[in-house]
Amino acid sequence: MKIIICKDYADASQQAAAIVIKALIVNPKLKLGLATGSSPLGIYKNLIDAYKKNIISFKDVKTFNLDEYVGISRSHPESYYSFMYENLFKDVDINDDNINIPNNDLSRVDDLAEEYDNKLLGNQRDIQLLGIGSNGHIGFNEPGTSLSNETFIVELDEQTREDNSRFFSSIEEVPKFAITMGIKNIMYAKKIILIASGIKKAEVINKTVNGEISNKVPATILQLHPNCTIIIDEDAASKLELDKKVDYTYSALSSKR
Ligand code: F6R
Repeated sequence: MKIIICKDYADASQQAAAIVIKALIVNPKLKLGLATGSSPLGIYKNLIDAYKKNIISFKDVKTFNLDEYVGISRSHPESYYSFMYENLFKDVDINDDNINIPNNDLSRVDDLAEEYDNKLLGNQRDIQLLGIGSNGHIGFNEPGTSLSNETFIVELDEQTREDNSRFFSSIEEVPKFAITMGIKNIMYAKKIILIASGIKKAEVINKTVNGEISNKVPATILQLHPNCTIIIDEDAASKLELDKKVDYTYSALSSKR
């Protein structure tokens, strides 16, 4: 595990985006796993910026989103489908056919997970972007999840619904279910970049890096990934014990650059 501690969110976003931009320059047919939520917004801004400067193109990029709410339509402003178009896809030259977001069509709910696994099959992601929930979820793999799951429909944790209620007018409006890549799908990516910022993520970041690997904090599984980089701001790093058993590289302290 490699950990990059940055002075602030803007710096963390820039560093994470730089990894994606470099990978895209080397391989324009990159397969990119995407996340939603607040954490990757800065990365997407940097990617759009690089696209507008003609540094990168998304023409041949294939994307695979981690998850989607079940119980609201794709056209709902808070669906992850809407989020991705609003915050990245509408501003770059991505081909619609190359965009993969788990379908949330309730009339076919029993088929949705297998359908998404079939899309992932043969499409090993070169890079998977992740955020992290304050309860340690990645994607929507909530505490207690099976660490060997592929895509599945999940009942969201109350903590997650509370955390995400900031995007809705009330907690009652936050969907109770979602479809998510499982831990097995996430771990299959060649490279993982997890971005987190703010004091609310400090405790869970320390657990992710130093805690016992357990489904109680699903993100701890990342300790076993051969190529995982955690990029955090100083607040999210504020509870990080840097001398524990995990073998990590402390590669940058931006504020002391
Ligand atoms: C979103 C996702 C979630 C979020 C996590 C953190 O696609 O998979 O795991 O990354 O809930 O959300 P933010 O970034 O809003 O704190």
